[in-house]
Amino acid sequence: MDSTELDRNAAAMVAPGKGILAADESTGTIKKRFDKIGVESSFESRRAYRELLFTAPDADKHISGVILYDETIRQQAADGRPFPALLTSRGILPGIKVDAGAKALAGFPGETVTEGLDGLRERLAEYHALGARFAKWRAVIDVGAAIPSATALEANAEALARYAALCQEASIVPIVEPEVLMDGDHTIERCEEVTDATLELVFDALFSHRVRLEGMVLKPNMVIAGKKCAKQAKPQQVTEATVRCLRRRVPGAVPGIAFLSGGQGEAEATLHLSLMNRLRDLPWQLSFSYGRALQQSTLDAWRGIPGNVAAAQRTFLRRAKLNGLARDGSYEAAMEQAAA
Ligand code: 13P
Repeated sequence: MDSTELDRNAAAMVAPGKGILAADESTGTIKKRFDKIGVESSFESRRAYRELLFTAPDADKHISGVILYDETIRQQAADGRPFPALLTSRGILPGIKVDAGAKALAGFPGETVTEGLDGLRERLAEYHALGARFAKWRAVIDVGAAIPSATALEANAEALARYAALCQEASIVPIVEPEVLMDGDHTIERCEEVTDATLELVFDALFSHRVRLEGMVLKPNMVIAGKKCAKQAKPQQVTEATVRCLRRRVPGAVPGIAFLSGGQGEAEATLHLSLMNRLRDLPWQLSFSYGRALQQSTLDAWRGIPGNVAAAQRTFLRRAKLNGLARDGSYEAAMEQAAA
């Protein structure tokens, strides 16, 4: 493990003013996104859409890294450049999703454990040779009256830590992603309780597996009420609860926290990030690693039509720029209308 390179790449991923684009939708997930805009999902339509994102002019000013999917890391732009080389030439770090998805946890109805550790050492070596300098593994924690169980939290934390240690051995920065879902009708208080318990176990496991905190990035959910909860929390409340929870559980040696959007609207995810960054003396960089909150309006602007590519790239750039502003708290909700 080259800890200097790991630490340098981890710091670059959460550099001020920038954040990460999660474009690692599995073939099944991207089909769902394409279905909504009436685009058939094929090897070529997926390639064309990813090329639109990766070649968007000026996006490198606001995007530090892109998470790719196994198919995508092997694809090329129309001019023949492999996607990882194209991104690297723009100063954007290529990353790769390496988990094999959340699978039902035997004996625990309604709960999952993320799989993908078998053969991971060999896959990481191949991805590093293909240009990947960071990876992502997502654990999924569902919230219900009697879940999550301690067993599900422990199983997921253990898998995340084993993944992170293997990544660092391969000189790849692990993004450690324990996602407490915002599906359901739970309150923000319940989300805070579950996020707190999740992060406690995740960091316990990272310590026991000797993961170097300076060479990783945490990708958590924000602390937020469930989508179906009658009482939705105000942005200020989300800000306070999220930062309180992170301060209690995330050591200052971690260089950065890059939030997932998890089903929040684009403007909502940007506003929450901006409000958090207005708080001063935070020990870590607070950044973004958004999938849907960076791509929704871009997909709508594109709709699979080649003539829409330039307009869709401008839409993507605008979203990336607004999130870049949120990195130091200078995004205002009024900018949505002004720039629309
Ligand atoms: P969302 O921002 O759409 O939640 O996606 C981020 C991600 O990478 C989930 O694993």
